[in-house]
Amino acid sequence: MNKPVWIRHASQLATLAGGSHSPVTGARMNELSIIENGSVWLENGVIERVGTDEELAEWFRERAHEADVIDATGKLVTPGLIDPHTHLVHAGTRQNEFNMRLSGATYMEIMNNGGGIHATTAATRQATHDELYEQSKRRLDQFLLHGVTTVEAKSGYGLTLEDEIKQLEVAQKLHETHPVDLVSTFMGAHAVPREYKETPDAFVDLVIEQMIPEVARRKLAVFNDVFCERGVFTPEQSRRILEAGREHGLLPKIHADEIEPYEGAELAASLGAVSADHLLRASDAGIERMAEAGVIAVLLPGTAFFLMAESANGRKMIDRGVAVAISTDCNPGSSPTVSMPLIMNLGCLKMGMTPAEVLTAATINAAHAIRCAHEVGSIEAGKKADVTIFAVPDFMTLQYRYGVNHVDTVIKNGAVVVA
Ligand code: NIG
Ligand code: FE
Repeated sequence: MNKPVWIRHASQLATLAGGSHSPVTGARMNELSIIENGSVWLENGVIERVGTDEELAEWFRERAHEADVIDATGKLVTPGLIDPHTHLVHAGTRQNEFNMRLSGATYMEIMNNGGGIHATTAATRQATHDELYEQSKRRLDQFLLHGVTTVEAKSGYGLTLEDEIKQLEVAQKLHETHPVDLVSTFMGAHAVPREYKETPDAFVDLVIEQMIPEVARRKLAVFNDVFCERGVFTPEQSRRILEAGREHGLLPKIHADEIEPYEGAELAASLGAVSADHLLRASDAGIERMAEAGVIAVLLPGTAFFLMAESANGRKMIDRGVAVAISTDCNPGSSPTVSMPLIMNLGCLKMGMTPAEVLTAATINAAHAIRCAHEVGSIEAGKKADVTIFAVPDFMTLQYRYGVNHVDTVIKNGAVVVA
């Protein structure tokens, strides 16, 4: 058993306490529950006690000598960051397409010509389990170095039953072997594979009749996601797939209104999806309906940045009462980054969110978006001992000194994993 870890004298301890029960909305997204000269005692993988340094010094007076002490003087302490939307498990890279896009080709043109998701699908089908594990593990190591302790990971580059299961098994193995926790999403409906180009509904049937039941039977995923976009899956097909998933216990998520307005936000609300993600082109009516239905908006400003598109309007969504989370969307085509700190910077600079709101979006609301808020996303007694320490004095400076990885220390399940 590890020794207790005692973090002392944080210049700001942003606990994000009080939001575990339901996603944080409105003005509450601006409240981080900060303790100055903060102190946290971690033991047996969980958070034991949180308070000012004076309070904890008094409480643990008899046991102070037992702990490994981390002096966080002049530093910011936050919950381990959470990335609620990634395509972590994939093979290969697509820098050739980046070059094409810089010369004017669009993301959809490249995909329709057999590149894009199809290119990564070909590479992922070819890769062995071990190759896929190694490539994905390297990315996961980098996530950890950027302060992330929990990651959602989607399948969707197999597009056959066997290859989708291969991706999900790799995610499961990473969850078991890597310090970062993974939460899996089945995304067989990520693209219509080229062999079904002329018969897309037959592919939808395959997803519904074979893939979803088998993934659910093997308990390989918690969520079911669809790329609802003109030229990919229609709102009707998306509804069928998400309803079928729900019948098998897979909770619905949706890639919505990313490239064109397509009433994805409205669909998410009418299905009661856990989250609708992207939303660059979501309609005002869709945003209102998401707020009413309690659908979390998972916003991906790195994708808008990398696709050279206008970002989702995070400011408007928060002001209308939608709970907002943010994520890297880490994938080889539209957002090959692993940096949640950069994503928070972009949340401020491109989506009109405040430095406090982006931290809420990357911690407790991200936890809600993957249904983990009962155990991670805030620094509260009883939760997992997942903590990130940044070498900046306050949460404002974390966003102000943008584009830098300020991570100083990462603690996962009570053990120091980055120092
Ligand atoms: O979230 N939009 C669909 N899926 C990913 C991109 C996947 C890829 O290009 O490989 C996204 O942007
Ligand atoms: Fe995505």
